[in-house]
Amino acid sequence: MKIIAFFGSPREGGNTELLLKETINGIEDSGFKVHVFNLNRMNITPCQNCGGCDDTGICIYEDDMSQIYEAIREADRIIIASPVFFFGVSAQTKIIIDRCQCFWCEKYLLKKPIPEGKHGRKGLLLLVGGMKKEIGIQCSEATVMAFFRTVNVPTHETLGFLGIDAKGAILKHPTALVEAYNAGKKLVSKGG
Ligand SMILES: Cc1cc2nc3c(=O)[nH]c(=O)nc-3n(C[C@H](O)[C@H](O)[C@H](O)COP(=O)(O)O)c2cc1C
Repeated sequence: MKIIAFFGSPREGGNTELLLKETINGIEDSGFKVHVFNLNRMNITPCQNCGGCDDTGICIYEDDMSQIYEAIREADRIIIASPVFFFGVSAQTKIIIDRCQCFWCEKYLLKKPIPEGKHGRKGLLLLVGGMKKEIGIQCSEATVMAFFRTVNVPTHETLGFLGIDAKGAILKHPTALVEAYNAGKKLVSKGG
């Protein structure tokens, strides 16, 4: 089973990464490996809406997104881990989502959705917000749901934690790390 994760926080060792690491622990304890893309360290141009992918489903820009396109195509499980920034996902996360417009063209214009492998395709969204405002989770989830459906991931689970602001504050949350670990196990389980 091929599992990829997009780490969308610029703060390494922060709350999003701590949560993602627990999910990865759950997956690794089930015998699988996760390929993590640290988006803040990657060189990715935002979508230019140039229309270059309209007829082909292929983006004309060549940068670090090339490796992400390939990984998305082959993935059985896709994890997105992002902090909530201004009631949405981080810019690092949104850039890769927008660059998946070529998959949107491929699926909806060319009628060629990414095929599912024998394990099916499933998603997991991990979110951390400093404020206690649900709208941050709702807006982020709407964006990521559009992404998941576009890359032909038909179902996903969302884990969102609010009121977590200082670096490492997630460690004091009573259930977050266990929930993240269990979500990782569930993501790769047969019934999951
Ligand atoms: C630019 C910026 C915008 C933010 N906007 C929000 C927001 O709209 N809602 C919220 O709940 N938290 C917001 N926060 C707080 C972060 O979500 C919070 O600090 C989170 O724990 C960061 O996760 P990290 O440690 O993985 O980077 C914002 C933080 C920054 C730096």
